Amino acid sequence: MTYKHSKSLDITKDFILPCRKDELDSIKEFLPIENPDFDGSFSTHQLLYGTQGNRIYLIGLGEEKHNSQLEKTFQKLAFETQKYWNKNIQVYAENLTEDDIKKAVIGLKMAQYAIGEFKSKKEKTNKITVSFTSSKTIKNVLNEGKYTGETINRIKALVDSPPNIKTPEFLGKWAEKSAKDTDYKCSVLKHKELKKQGFEAVLSVGKGSVNKPVVIITEYTPKKSKKIDIALVGKGITFDSGGLSIKPSTNLHYMKSDMGGAAVVLGVVELIAKLKLDINIVGIVCSAENAVDAESYRPGDVINSYSGKTIEIIDTDAEGRLVLADGLSYAVKNIEPEYLIDLATLTGSVVRTLGYEAAGMFTHNEEMAKTMSEIGYKVHERVWQLPMFEEYKSDLHSDIADLRNFSGKPLTGATNAAQFLESFTEEHKNWIHLDIAGVSFGSSPYAKMKSASGYGIQLITEFIKSKI
Ligand code: BES
Ligand code: ZN
Ligand code: ZN
Repeated sequence: MTYKHSKSLDITKDFILPCRKDELDSIKEFLPIENPDFDGSFSTHQLLYGTQGNRIYLIGLGEEKHNSQLEKTFQKLAFETQKYWNKNIQVYAENLTEDDIKKAVIGLKMAQYAIGEFKSKKEKTNKITVSFTSSKTIKNVLNEGKYTGETINRIKALVDSPPNIKTPEFLGKWAEKSAKDTDYKCSVLKHKELKKQGFEAVLSVGKGSVNKPVVIITEYTPKKSKKIDIALVGKGITFDSGGLSIKPSTNLHYMKSDMGGAAVVLGVVELIAKLKLDINIVGIVCSAENAVDAESYRPGDVINSYSGKTIEIIDTDAEGRLVLADGLSYAVKNIEPEYLIDLATLTGSVVRTLGYEAAGMFTHNEEMAKTMSEIGYKVHERVWQLPMFEEYKSDLHSDIADLRNFSGKPLTGATNAAQFLESFTEEHKNWIHLDIAGVSFGSSPYAKMKSASGYGIQLITEFIKSKI
């Protein structure tokens, strides 16, 4: 699907006519009948035929509160009806803001996502050109929407990929190709290099798998100054069996999605590079498979870490915080970024707390929290701040090592995980941890099983834009 701008609407050809709730008057001139069965409710659509037998899709944008998720209404229309579309279709965009148009393109692009990548017979897709008709200049917005939607689809494909294919090394190759295609730097640290540099926590988590761990470092630095504005760190567990503290088998297949944080980091760096934004960013992905084997790390082990802090392993299923610990230490020691953000499908606890509607946000920086929260509402990828009270910290005490990876209690799990991470940030003033376990993967109207949501791309990209 390609997107272009045209100045005027040809009402004899197919077109999409967006309309806000109870504002039919604003598009009356284009309607072939006086009273269509349509009131502009959010995410509804109604097909009418024009005088030339051309299709007119009325689509409902709902009320102002729906603006943040406008892509959904375009995604739904395209998903349900694009098989009937001709080569060209127009969108009447005169009444849309720039943000609306961007969301519209994102939604149309998201409807192109092909979840059945591994089916032997592929569904064939039509080549469609969508012309947005507006008297304003909207070329940049169309581009931004296209790249954003494309990146969302690319990271969804990664998260939905099966774990036998999506190994840590595969993620490394994905990043290398992306970096080459989009012109940014990427290095993939493999076993020997990880050992040399002391990524001991990453290595411990990955010990039980034949698919060896990697750390991926991507770098987009267009500015003269080499100072890194923002570093992103992502949890890239390509399959989380729980390790020797093995998980129950129900829904275990969904643990292929435990690299959702890594996918956001890889996607955002690619998108920022495609948009050529004037900001220096580094993305760090710590990737391993948490598997069961004679070589696996055990509960009771004491392991080392990049920071030099020793960790007593209580539960091998609390592996995400271990790989992130090394990623965060690496960032504060070597990158010294102005802002430090990590994203991870870290705890079941955050899913029980916030369900599927918001990521858990942890930080001591209230200004950053406010910005992140506002952007979350704006793009409908919401975050909700959870506490980091001092008192909870005693849960991480170990008698024999510097700290332990789990309290052993069924309480405050997401906070404990966040505070574990905090121990590796060297009190970085501008650090935020986002626990995206509930939002990165879930039910959708477009698949029978759970699948990737694409959460995080718009949130983090807009956050980065707010710091330019
Ligand atoms: N990958 C899981 C967290 C998770 C749960 C992600 C549900 C997506 C959906 C993580 O590694 C994990 O197993 N966490 C444990 C930690 C516990 C053993 C301390 C949890 O939250 O139960
Ligand atoms: Zn786990
Ligand atoms: Zn995990």
